[in-house]
Amino acid sequence: MTIVKPAPKARASTETRTLTIRDDSTGETYVLPVEDGAIKASDLAKIPGGSDGAGLLTYDPGFMATAAVKSAITYIDGDRGILRYRGYPIEELAERCSFLEIAHLLLGGELPAEEELARWQDEITHHTFIHENIKKFIDGFRHDAHPMGILMSTVAALSTFYPEAKRIADERARRSQIVRLIAKMPTIAAFAYRHAAGLPYVYPDNDLSYTGNFLNMMWKTTELKYDPDPVLERALEVLFILHADHEQNCSTSTVRVVGSSRSDPYSAVAAGIGALYGPLHGGANEQVLRMLEDIGSVDRIPEHIERVKKGELRLMGFGHRIYKSYDPRAKLIKTIADDVFAVTRRSPLLDIALELEKIALEDEYFVSHKLYPNVDFYSGLIYQAMGFPVEMFTSLFAIGRTPGWLAQWEEGLLDPDQRIARPRQIYTGADLRHVD
Ligand code: CMC
Repeated sequence: MTIVKPAPKARASTETRTLTIRDDSTGETYVLPVEDGAIKASDLAKIPGGSDGAGLLTYDPGFMATAAVKSAITYIDGDRGILRYRGYPIEELAERCSFLEIAHLLLGGELPAEEELARWQDEITHHTFIHENIKKFIDGFRHDAHPMGILMSTVAALSTFYPEAKRIADERARRSQIVRLIAKMPTIAAFAYRHAAGLPYVYPDNDLSYTGNFLNMMWKTTELKYDPDPVLERALEVLFILHADHEQNCSTSTVRVVGSSRSDPYSAVAAGIGALYGPLHGGANEQVLRMLEDIGSVDRIPEHIERVKKGELRLMGFGHRIYKSYDPRAKLIKTIADDVFAVTRRSPLLDIALELEKIALEDEYFVSHKLYPNVDFYSGLIYQAMGFPVEMFTSLFAIGRTPGWLAQWEEGLLDPDQRIARPRQIYTGADLRHVD
């Protein structure tokens, strides 16, 4: 549909929703079709009078109210705290599925049948090794390099090992890189940790599950075969499932933006890891732990809350752009915590977290701002109890998010509407001037 100008006298049909805009400077009215609850910015741009002789633009820093894509992967209702992958409620998936089943679901749209799952697991398991040169590459990082820096650079470097990754129009080549990325991400993350700890790298054990093998690569020492604790193995699996996709969040949008220029998936995912690293996104899980340690004891919580309310600090692990109620992932994570603490020791920081949550949920500032615990609030406590150093937390998020990034990257590439991402700007600089 195109814009009708000026507005017709007849009333719009009840089936087609339209929006009528009147430009007070010209007296013209414009009727814009509303589809799927959105108007097209390109329709708006047909209305003259924007800056630089262009049509009208929308100004939307942080894309608060801009849908940049149509997607069939993940559904979120932020007011009701609903999260679904391909239509399935996250609660059911977390209870009944494995992480690789979820990866299959996100990428292909369906949960795998038994045989399909066996093939998919086999494929992933046989790509967990990394080229020996990558080990040398990781060796080159300083001993105190942050694991996210290592992960991001190493994933980017993978594109040089698999030049066919550039063939993004070739379905088989795409599939190979998807499998490699999901398979190798835990290996690289574990190697980054072992490098920082000064420990020898542990090669993947293909007899173990995806998460069991990851624990093996992290913790194996002198034993002949690593035997993961089944409770911790399953807890990590559920944590990965809960992080697997979250529609158009900052890192996923980054992956899509980079993918829109037809880059290879390693470059796109490396950029996504960079976005995830930030403390307002995936880096928040690390910051929550640091915050709880800083608070130190329950009696110091009120003082901390006051500083947050004065705007001096943010309460890390609280708030979300989309959820204006309790993040359903945080609810599930809270339940896993009990299972994990039954095996490990209870985190001394848990009492501070629980009390902080209680006070925040009753406090007028948090209530009126609709700030609830998000996925990062409790996950760090579990990771810490499992023995992961704080610097590793965001890498764990990255491993979980990899299938989501790839599903969204591929969906973007196959979308006939996809164009290279190139937002507009409102120029606020100097008018034309000349060098004296
Ligand atoms: N603590 C205190 N005040 C907050 C917080 C917070 N965590 N989050 C938002 N606010 C306030 C903010 O000060 C603002 O107040 P006012 O309107 O009075 O100026 C209002 O709430 C809206 O904040 P915003 O920054 O405009 O909201 P946003 O949608 O742009 O930001 C967010 C969302 C997640 C970046 C933000 O809530 C935040 O910084 N949270 C802490 C970091 C965090 O936990 N991030 C993890 C997010 S979930 C997992 C993930 O995506 O990785």
